[in-house]
Amino acid sequence: MTTRLLPTDEPETLDAAAQEAVALLKQGEVVALPTETVYGLAADALKAEAVAKIFEAKERPTFDPLIVHLPHRKDLKDVAEVPADIADVVDKIAHKFWPGPLTIILPKKACVPDLVTAGLPTVAVRVSKDPVFMRVSRTFDGPLAAPSANRFGSISPTSAGAVMAELEGRIPLVLDGGASNHGIESTIIKIDPPAGTPKPVITILRPGPITPDDLKEFGVVKHGFKAKHKDGEAAEAPGMLASHYAPRTPLRLLSSPEDFTQDFGKRYALLSYRGEPDDGYIDLVEEWAGIHILTPGKGKLVEAGVRLFYALRELDKLGVDEIIAEPVPEQGIGMAVMDRLRRASVKRS
Ligand code: TXA
Ligand code: MG
Repeated sequence: MTTRLLPTDEPETLDAAAQEAVALLKQGEVVALPTETVYGLAADALKAEAVAKIFEAKERPTFDPLIVHLPHRKDLKDVAEVPADIADVVDKIAHKFWPGPLTIILPKKACVPDLVTAGLPTVAVRVSKDPVFMRVSRTFDGPLAAPSANRFGSISPTSAGAVMAELEGRIPLVLDGGASNHGIESTIIKIDPPAGTPKPVITILRPGPITPDDLKEFGVVKHGFKAKHKDGEAAEAPGMLASHYAPRTPLRLLSSPEDFTQDFGKRYALLSYRGEPDDGYIDLVEEWAGIHILTPGKGKLVEAGVRLFYALRELDKLGVDEIIAEPVPEQGIGMAVMDRLRRASVKRS
């Protein structure tokens, strides 16, 4: 199969690309689309045969459920049954964050195929803010199932080129919407009614661009993933796998420079937080085969999110024996960055 890559940067190219994408989606095909987080591989969420093509192209096991993207927030009722005891808080959260990088887990409607939810009684839902995605989704006028547009277990793509590197020859079309805004996947939450708490309970299942601070006005925020644990130990979240977001090259996440031991003759590359010699990592190896800095300059964590997957992809190309990663502060989106680094550091079986 030839994979076509269409630009969207002019009104005419966007019109033409969106039309082609919608025509393919209507035929039950898959199309890779930009979102504000990472690129997604979309298909008609209500057609099991179309959704099956996503699993096939990604080589994704069917026990890993997909996120359903709605054209508008009002379309939530088409795919989810919002329980009465959380209807109010779901509505408030949807108004605040949709369109945007927040995914909510809710009981599913019968029309959503089991393949989308991996047989779970719940469905993951969000509304993307990306202008290209919105255009396609609103013209298609129905829910689109879309996981990240990478091969299963590999790094999420944050550019059309990265999608091509992952899926060229396996899908008919990629729309190029430029570099992803956030560069890290949406925050996933579930919401429960107050349980001895003054407010509803919001559990973060996957940390992302929407932080606990952003959510705290709506409820008591809990972590459904392990915020801190030993290096190499798997993070845990329902429906999510430990070894994920992984480069092919083994990655070692250090908690301090003293943790590092060098094997003679091995080649190393460094994923540095600020590129600051004072942090103690840059000087660990005399000659790194490559260095990527997540936040050149000021150490802004949002930048670390934007650069993370791009940097991992680039370091992966060097063919070194090991990628050494510095930790970033576990605040705000730094939590999501550390979560992804921990998953990337878990050895694949
Ligand atoms: O930013 C994003 O969320 C991107 C863009 C394309 O929207 N999508 C994305 O999808 O990251 P994916 O498939 O790579 O990750 C979705 C995660 C999976 O880890 C899956 O296990 C979890 O969401 N998930 C989906 N449905 C779920 C459910 N009903 N309960 C618990 N977890 C669920
Ligand atoms: Mg993914």
